Amino acid sequence: MTADAPTIAVLGSINMDLVTTTRRRPAPGETVLGSGFAMVPGGKGSNQAIAARRAGATVAFLGAVGSDVFAGDLRRVLTESGVGTDRLRTLPGPSGIAAIVVDGTGENSIIVVGGANAALTELTADDLALIGASDVLLCQLEIPVPTVAAAAGHARAKDTVVMLNPSPAQRLPSEVWDDVDVAVVNSGEAAQLGGALHAVRHLVVTRGSAGATYRGPDGAELSVPGVPVDVVDTTGAGDAFTGALAAAWHRGPRAALEWACAAGALATTRLGASSAIPDRERIEALLREHAN
Ligand code: RIB
Repeated sequence: MTADAPTIAVLGSINMDLVTTTRRRPAPGETVLGSGFAMVPGGKGSNQAIAARRAGATVAFLGAVGSDVFAGDLRRVLTESGVGTDRLRTLPGPSGIAAIVVDGTGENSIIVVGGANAALTELTADDLALIGASDVLLCQLEIPVPTVAAAAGHARAKDTVVMLNPSPAQRLPSEVWDDVDVAVVNSGEAAQLGGALHAVRHLVVTRGSAGATYRGPDGAELSVPGVPVDVVDTTGAGDAFTGALAAAWHRGPRAALEWACAAGALATTRLGASSAIPDRERIEALLREHAN
């Protein structure tokens, strides 16, 4: 990224990820023995904010931590990554957590309990001013939908690009989709959301190790291949992709998708979400390696 790197406001969740590793994820009613446990800051919002920052953008995070033992570590991972936290509030009660099981293939299952994220129901005048002054607003769906809707409506009115990663996938009012400039989904979410995505101006679909595809407002499509890596844990790979995409969006869809695919691939090579998000030097090095 160069000096023309954008300013990005990320509105979303921040969780403490409670990560267990096991050879095989348990079937319903089954107990399996695990091989490891780690607590790693995560949450789709926080992960994407860190990914955009490490990819070179100037990033501010709008979200909420609780008043519990996790709050300090969650706030610290953002500040240490250089993400602005002036709009990160502390609300009474628990922070968000995610119970994550990673199996021997690197695939995961995740349960998120919202905590403070679920209580993020109001946007202040300062929040709206930050969103309106940013180049890109980036949201996901681990906070209440009306909050996302209010932010997206304001962003659109101020000509801030609205990028939405509608994950976990859920039905949204059509007015929200009208405000979305760029939707980023994985293939499962694309199937779940179906027709709702037809009206989106720019649609990006991630396809894991197969790369990603893009469809523009004129219907033109392009595909970018995946970058082969040794997979350890896929948790947060979509977030690394999305944050990097937001940071590179101003460079056009092909360059942005290539950059994002490299970031997503690198994120699978380490355990955890925020702990695995690559910086721009690693992204550039991987792209150089595969250009040769
Ligand atoms: O996308 C990965 C993230 O989903 C994890 O960090 C977890 O917190 C959940 O939000």
